[in-house]
Amino acid sequence: MIQRKLIVGNWKMNPATLEDARRIARKTRTAAAQLVQTDVVICPPSIFAAALISKKNTPNFNLGAQTASFEESGSHTGQISAAMLKNIGMTHVIVGHSEERAAGDTDEMISRRIRAVLEAGLTPVVCVGEKSRDNEGGAHFEFLKDQIRNTFANISEKYAREIVLAYEPVWAIGAKEAMSPEQIYEMSLFVKKVFGDVFGQASAMKVPVVYGGSVTFRNAADIIAIGQVDGLLVGRESVNVTGFVELLKVVDTAKADGVN
Ligand code: 13P
Repeated sequence: MIQRKLIVGNWKMNPATLEDARRIARKTRTAAAQLVQTDVVICPPSIFAAALISKKNTPNFNLGAQTASFEESGSHTGQISAAMLKNIGMTHVIVGHSEERAAGDTDEMISRRIRAVLEAGLTPVVCVGEKSRDNEGGAHFEFLKDQIRNTFANISEKYAREIVLAYEPVWAIGAKEAMSPEQIYEMSLFVKKVFGDVFGQASAMKVPVVYGGSVTFRNAADIIAIGQVDGLLVGRESVNVTGFVELLKVVDTAKADGVN
C-alpha cells in the first residue's frame, strides 16, 4: 500500500490581503487536485479562512487553523474555539507552534488546546522541537522527551490515532537551511519513540510525523525520501505559491530510496 504524504502550509501572518490569500489558495487547490498520493492542508490567518472555503470538492485539499482556544465558548475576547473552526469546514489545527510557545504558551496550555481540538473532532498538528542542538552532550534529546511527555499529558489514549506530530527544530525555522535529511531521519524516530512512551508502541508505529523548518521545493524530496517522514510543515514556501506548487509535485513523486 502506498503511504499518503501530508503537506501542511502554515501561512503565519501572511499574506497582507484577502485578494492574495484567494489567489494562493486557488493555485494551491488546483495543484493539489493533480496529486496522486499527497494530502494538502493550508492554514491561513483565520480572518481569511471562511472566504477560502470552496464549493469545489477537492478531497485531498483542506483548510486548517494556526491555533485554537482551549475554552469552549463564552467570555474570551479575541479567541476562536475549535468548534467554530470545525463549523466553517476546517479539518486540522496547528497546536504548540514554537512561535506560540515563545509568546507564552506552556506545555500545559498546549495540552489543553490539543484536547479542545480533538474533542471538536479536528486533527491537531502538534509541534515539538528543541531550541538548539547539543551535539556533544545530547541535551536536546532530554529537552524533547520532557516537552513531548508534558505536551501530551492529560490526552486520552483513545485519541492517539487522531494526532499528527510535527517535528520542528526551532533553530531551523525561518533559517537559511533545513536540518539535514539524515538528522531528520534520526530525530523523527526519536520523537516517535517518545510518543510511544506516552501512548504505547502500537500508536507510535501509526503516528504520522511531519518535518518543519526551512522546507523549500529544492530540499523537500530528500527530506521525504532520506528523512523518511510522512510529510512536511511548510512556512515561507507555502505562501510563495510557485515554489509551493513545485514542492507539492516533487513530494508526490518522491520515492523512499531518495531517487525522484
Ligand atoms: P519556515 O518554513 O518559514 O522555516 O517555517 C517553518 C514553520 O514554522 C512552519 O510551521
